[in-house]
Amino acid sequence: MSDSLEIRTPLCELLGCRYPVIQTAMGWVAGSSLVAATTNAGGFGFLAGATIAADKIEAEILRVKELTGDKPFGLNFHMFQPNAQQLLDLAIAHKLRAVSYGRGPDKKVIGRLRDAGIVCMPTVGALKHAQKAIEMGANVITVQGGEGGGHTGSVPSTVLIPQVVDAVQVPVVAAGGFYDGRGLLAAMAYGAQGIAMGTRFLMTSDSGVPEVTLKRYLATREAEKIQISYLVDGMPQRMIPNEYLSMLEKASPFKRLRIAVGLALQWKAQTGMTMQHALSVLWQGLREDPGSAAQTVMAANAPMLLQRSMTDGKPAEGVMSAGQVAALIGRLDSCEEVISRIVAQACERQAVLNKLTGAACA
Ligand SMILES: Cc1cc2nc3c(=O)[nH]c(=O)nc-3n(C[C@H](O)[C@H](O)[C@H](O)COP(=O)(O)O)c2cc1C
Repeated sequence: MSDSLEIRTPLCELLGCRYPVIQTAMGWVAGSSLVAATTNAGGFGFLAGATIAADKIEAEILRVKELTGDKPFGLNFHMFQPNAQQLLDLAIAHKLRAVSYGRGPDKKVIGRLRDAGIVCMPTVGALKHAQKAIEMGANVITVQGGEGGGHTGSVPSTVLIPQVVDAVQVPVVAAGGFYDGRGLLAAMAYGAQGIAMGTRFLMTSDSGVPEVTLKRYLATREAEKIQISYLVDGMPQRMIPNEYLSMLEKASPFKRLRIAVGLALQWKAQTGMTMQHALSVLWQGLREDPGSAAQTVMAANAPMLLQRSMTDGKPAEGVMSAGQVAALIGRLDSCEEVISRIVAQACERQAVLNKLTGAACA
C-alpha cells in the first residue's frame, strides 16, 4: 500500500489503528489468525470471544499480540455466556483496546471497562438501542443496518446511520452492507467515522473458513436470496438459505423443539455451562419473547449450527450467516488486499467527488 494513501478519522486515534476499517466479531470465524491479519493490514479486529473455549481464550489473545507485535485489537463478548466475567477480566488484564457486545452489560460493568481505558463499542440495529447503550456508558456506537449478516434489525444502513449520527454525541461506526471504498466514503459522508464489516472479512483467504463453505458463499450472486429467518433461534438472522434452513421451514413445531433441545444440550456440554446458568438463560429468553418455546431454547445454542458450517466444513447441515453484500463479493482476497483496495478506492472516489462537487458548487 502506498504511504501517500491515508484516510484517517478520530476513531483511528481512539482505536490505535491506521485505517477506519473494522473487522467485526463472527462466531467461529474471527479467531486470532483473522484478527491478526486485519490488524497487520492497518484495520482493527475483534476476537469472537463468545465461541472460543474458555480455556483457549487467553492463548488466542496472546497469539494476536505475538502475530501483530502487540498492535491494538478488541474482544467481543455476550453477557449471557457462562464465562462473560472471565472475558471482561482478560480484556482488562491484557489491556485490550476495545470490547464489542450486544445488549446486556450494565453501567457498573461498562464503568469498570472504561476505567481501564477500554473503548466500549456495542453493535445496535435501532436508534433506541443506541440511546440505551450510550446511557449505559458506551463511547463508540456501531450501527448495523438490516442488510448486515448474522442477527440483524430491519432498518437499512442508509436510514440508520444518519438517524443515529444525528442523535448521539459519540463516534458512530457504520456496519451492514459494506465491502469497498465507495461504502467507506459514503458512510463518512453520512457522518460515520469508519466502517465495520463481517461478511467481507469472512470471505477472505485469511478467515480459515473451510473451502466447501466458502464456495457456497462465492456462488451466491443474488442479494435478495440472502434472507432473514427467525427459525434458527427466534431472532431475525440473515443467512444464505441451505438444506438445513429448508428442513427447519418444513419441520413441525415439535420437531423444531426436539432439535433445539438436542443442540442446547450439546452447547451446554461444550461450554461447560451449569444447569443453573442454562435455566437462567432460558428464563431470560422466555421473559423477553414468550412466543415460542422452541425458539427460546434455540437462543442458547445457535452457535452450534454456525460451527458446523464455519469449522466442521458441513455447510448443508448448519447455518450460513451472511450479509446481503456476500452477493457482491466474487473472490477471496487477503485482508491486506481487501483493506488496501478499500483505502485506494475511497481516495480515488474522494478525488472524483472533489472535482464533481467543486464544479457543481462553484
Ligand atoms: C458468520 C457470521 C457470524 C457472526 N457472528 C457474530 C457474533 O458472534 N457476535 C456478534 O456480535 N456479531 C456476529 N455477526 C455479525 C457481525 O459481527 C457484523 O455485525 C455483521 O456481519 C455486519 O454486516 P456485514 O455482514 O454486512 O458486514 C456475525 C456475522 C456473520 C456473517
